[in-house]
Amino acid sequence: MAVITLANAKGGAGKTTAALILATELARQGSRVVILDADPQRWITNWFELSGNIPNLEVISHITPASLPCHIRELKDEVDFIVIDLAGAKDAIVALALGLSDQVLIPVQGCAMDARGAVQILELIRQIEEKARTRINHAVVLTRVSSLVTTRALQTIKALLAARGVSVLDTPIVERAAYREIFECGGTLQTMDADRVSNLDKARENAFALAREVQEILPMRVRRSLALRLHWALPRAA
Ligand SMILES: Nc1ncnc2c1ncn2[C@@H]1O[C@H](COP(=O)(O)OP(=O)(O)OP(=O)(O)O)[C@@H](O)[C@H]1O
Ligand SMILES: [Mg+2]
Repeated sequence: MAVITLANAKGGAGKTTAALILATELARQGSRVVILDADPQRWITNWFELSGNIPNLEVISHITPASLPCHIRELKDEVDFIVIDLAGAKDAIVALALGLSDQVLIPVQGCAMDARGAVQILELIRQIEEKARTRINHAVVLTRVSSLVTTRALQTIKALLAARGVSVLDTPIVERAAYREIFECGGTLQTMDADRVSNLDKARENAFALAREVQEILPMRVRRSLALRLHWALPRAA
C-alpha cells in the first residue's frame, strides 16, 4: 500500500485537482484507492457525493490529526493507494500527513506565491526528516501548465529546481477544461462526454502519464509490495 499526499501551503495551487486526477486514474487501472479528504472545504467529498458509485474508489471525509493515522492503519491491508488531499495550510494535519507519506507531491503553478507555498512544504519535510531521521520521498508537479508551453521551457524549470535539489515530475498537469468540469459534473474523465468537453482525450492521456510516473517514482519497498499484491490478486494459471 502506498500513501500519496498532495501538499502546498498556498491555497489554489492545484492540490485537489491533482489528487482527483491521480486517484481516479489509479482506480480506473484497477487499483483499490481511498481518498482521505483532509480539507475542511470538502471539495473531494462534494465531488464524490455528486458522482455516485465509482468502481475501486472510496472517499473518507472529516479527517483530523487524531483519525488520520487510524485510517491509514485500518486501510493498510485493504487498499493499494491512499491519496490524501490537504488544505492549503501548514498546520498539524499537514505535518502529520507528510510524515506518514510514501510519496509527497507538491503541485506548483509557476507563480511566485505558489512557489513560496511549495518552499514552506519543502522546509517542513526537511524538518520532519531531520527529527525522525527518515527520508520522505517528494517531488514537485507542475500544474495548470499551458498546452502551448514547450518541452524545452519545462526542461528549463526542471533544471532550475533540480539545481536546488528539488525533483520535478516529467509529466506536468496541463490546464484542461475537463479538470474543471469534473468537479461540476461529478464522475470521471471516462464518464465525461467527449462531445461536450474539449480535448478530453488529451486530458485522459495526461492523467494516464501522471499515474504511470507517480507509480514509477514510489520508493522501491512500496513498489515491491504493490507488485506482490498484484501477483497474488491475479488468477493462477491452471
Ligand atoms: N490542470 C488544471 N486545469 C484546469 N483547471 C485547474 C487545473 N488545476 C487546477 N485548476 C483549477 O484551479 C483552481 C484551484 O485548483 P484546486 O482546487 O485543485 O487547488 P487547491 O490547491 O486544492 O486549492 P485549496 O488550497 O483551496 O484546496 C480550481 O478552480 C481548479 O478547477
Ligand atoms: Mg484543495
